[in-house]
Amino acid sequence: MNSDSNKGLQGPQETPPTTPAAKHESSETQVLMKHVFPVEADDFTSAGEASGKIKNILKQLGIDSQLVRRAAIACYEAELNLVIHSWGGQLTLLLTPHEIKIVTEDTGPGIPDVDMAMKEGYSTASERARELGFGAGMGLPNIQRNASRVEIYSVVGQGTTLKITFGF
Ligand SMILES: Nc1ncnc2c1ncn2[C@@H]1O[C@H](COP(=O)(O)OP(=O)(O)OP(=O)(O)O)[C@@H](O)[C@H]1O
Ligand SMILES: [Mg+2]
Repeated sequence: MNSDSNKGLQGPQETPPTTPAAKHESSETQVLMKHVFPVEADDFTSAGEASGKIKNILKQLGIDSQLVRRAAIACYEAELNLVIHSWGGQLTLLLTPHEIKIVTEDTGPGIPDVDMAMKEGYSTASERARELGFGAGMGLPNIQRNASRVEIYSVVGQGTTLKITFGF
């Protein structure tokens, strides 16, 4: 690949690739670690637990504390969105040699207008969620601010996939 191929985390059993392209491909796609956490709709008691576990995992890996902080904030907002807006789903943490990826997949109402949902202050949170202090419409903008890249795929009436990437 290039001169910074020694930076970042390397898999223990990485085999030398045959071509520069193959090496580039392998460093982008090689999954060093994967953890999946189920998230239940409307479960405000356990809300934030998956994000807390992910934060601890990243800390224990010795990842830069600022990066852990950014990932933890994004992860918490994404988890809460599953609790508040979806019918249930899962949160996945993936680590590749140069990226942390947090992916949420849910079944739910979906997001009809993703551009609108990304705007500060836009919220469809329920009265109950608002009483608990959620629903400011700041979660997705906050995720966007903290991440290197955010992708949202949503089908109305079916569900939403959110991919949050942090490069390092
Ligand atoms: N997983 C999801 N499924 C369905 N709709 C979602 C999902 N995530 C976000 N949305 C929609 O996008 C809107 C904006 O989300 P965002 O996280 O920015 O704000 P919020 O969750 O309403 O409030 P806050 O995050 O400040 O508590 C939500 O109100 C909701 O309409
Ligand atoms: Mg939110």
